[in-house]
Amino acid sequence: MMTEAEHTIIVGVTGGGKTTLAEGLTKHCRRIIVLTTKPKAKCFTKGYHEARKSVDVLKYIKRNWNSKKGFRIVWRVFSEPGDNNKQIKALDWICRNLWKWQQGYADEKDNRQIVLNVDEVQRFFPHSEAQKGHAFTWAVSEGRDWGINLLVGTQRPVNIHPIFRDNITNFYSLRLSGDATFKKVNENVGGDHMARLKAIKQFHYAYFRDKAYIATNNTRKPTINRAFP
Ligand SMILES: Nc1ncnc2c1ncn2[C@@H]1O[C@H](COP(=O)(O)OP(=O)(O)OP(=O)(O)O)[C@@H](O)[C@H]1O
Ligand SMILES: [Mg+2]
Repeated sequence: MMTEAEHTIIVGVTGGGKTTLAEGLTKHCRRIIVLTTKPKAKCFTKGYHEARKSVDVLKYIKRNWNSKKGFRIVWRVFSEPGDNNKQIKALDWICRNLWKWQQGYADEKDNRQIVLNVDEVQRFFPHSEAQKGHAFTWAVSEGRDWGINLLVGTQRPVNIHPIFRDNITNFYSLRLSGDATFKKVNENVGGDHMARLKAIKQFHYAYFRDKAYIATNNTRKPTINRAFP
């Protein structure tokens, strides 16, 4: 039987290595779309196709849908000060299209999964959007049946919407700060790991799967227990 698609979260302080870890965990993925607010100088440079707008994503996916090498796309959605509208729309657009692109998977005619990596997810999906029919809500609740693996990173785990929080298989915690954050993360990894969370060093992560502790390691040397497709 095929592995089911999974949800994964990476949390940690600013500059703690979230993006570095996300890159490492998905290095070998052949079908991946990354949404980030960071410029090219910072991350997702090697081996990614740079999409400037939605139509670039569409064209590149179409062209490479059946190619062996697949597609590794990064879409950098820059925000205007104080306004996340572009990011919110971009994620909504991607999720609506994933629903179409992955229809064959849902119909069991195609077994290829896909990874959607949303860096700083709170920028792309603030709480208020869940009520407005934003398509990420669909991706979280039903995307697994469409073969969609979600990987999200955030420095604000407190702000992660419950619909996502309640659906996480893989939880990576980097260094944290703030009592509320420790409390929230500890709750999300089973409630019994406060000392372990407090002991995480800079550029290290503790990995939990289905609320069980698995391993600690450096963000640049992630051990992968299950292959993203
Ligand atoms: N294991 C490591 N050892 C040394 N440096 C690292 C390690 N992991 C990440 N870095 C460096 O630390 C900086 C921050 O890493 P990264 O951008 O991955 O963190 P982040 O948590 O995503 O930060 P931000 O909150 O700004 O998005 C980068 O310059 C990165 O190269
Ligand atoms: Mg980052």
